Amino acid sequence: MAKALYPGSFDPITYGHIDIIKRAKKLFSHLTVAVMRNPEKRMLFSLTERQSLVIAALREIGLNDTQVIPHDGLLVDLARQLHVDAVVRGLRASTDFEYEFQLALTNRDLDPDFESVYLMTSRDFSFISSSIVRQVKSYGGDVRRFVPLCVDRALAEKFSQKTPG
Ligand code: COA
Repeated sequence: MAKALYPGSFDPITYGHIDIIKRAKKLFSHLTVAVMRNPEKRMLFSLTERQSLVIAALREIGLNDTQVIPHDGLLVDLARQLHVDAVVRGLRASTDFEYEFQLALTNRDLDPDFESVYLMTSRDFSFISSSIVRQVKSYGGDVRRFVPLCVDRALAEKFSQKTPG
């Protein structure tokens, strides 16, 4: 019975992430979603807000049996702590490959037992990303095809608080 971990920054969660979660749940007996920090990125939502949005989004589509945890630290440490068999990541296009390759090899170097599994993102979501969604919404565009309603609302609220710079 294989256990898997799906980590990401989820700023915010999109239907692209949800597509990977749905497919990973079919392959693994237990899936934990870890909402993490990516020190290279400036986040719109706090770690707690991102975790709450992942929980709300999964509840909205009926996947409320999925464990969602926050983690501020190395991915290898969390994978070891949870005794997972694999870490799942989504691949959108060839542009994702180099980054994911580097991530996988660094993690393997830090822990030789670290195993990554890559799932191809569905064509419908292969062109979206959290930053594209944030950008479209910040200019008042409609992102409801890309994110669940709770995320759309949270984005609207966040941008209504922001003063134009
Ligand atoms: N469909 C659509 N978009 C997708 C997607 C999918 N299936 N999967 C990922 N994306 C997008 C995300 O929206 C995100 O878009 P953005 O860059 O516009 O925000 C982008 O792809 C990548 O995001 P994500 O998958 O959330 O990963 P990340 O690169 O932000 O973070 C971590 C990856 C958290 C796993 C990594 O930073 C990490 O391990 N951090 C902990 C520290 C650590 O261990 N570092 C050493 C590892 S080298």
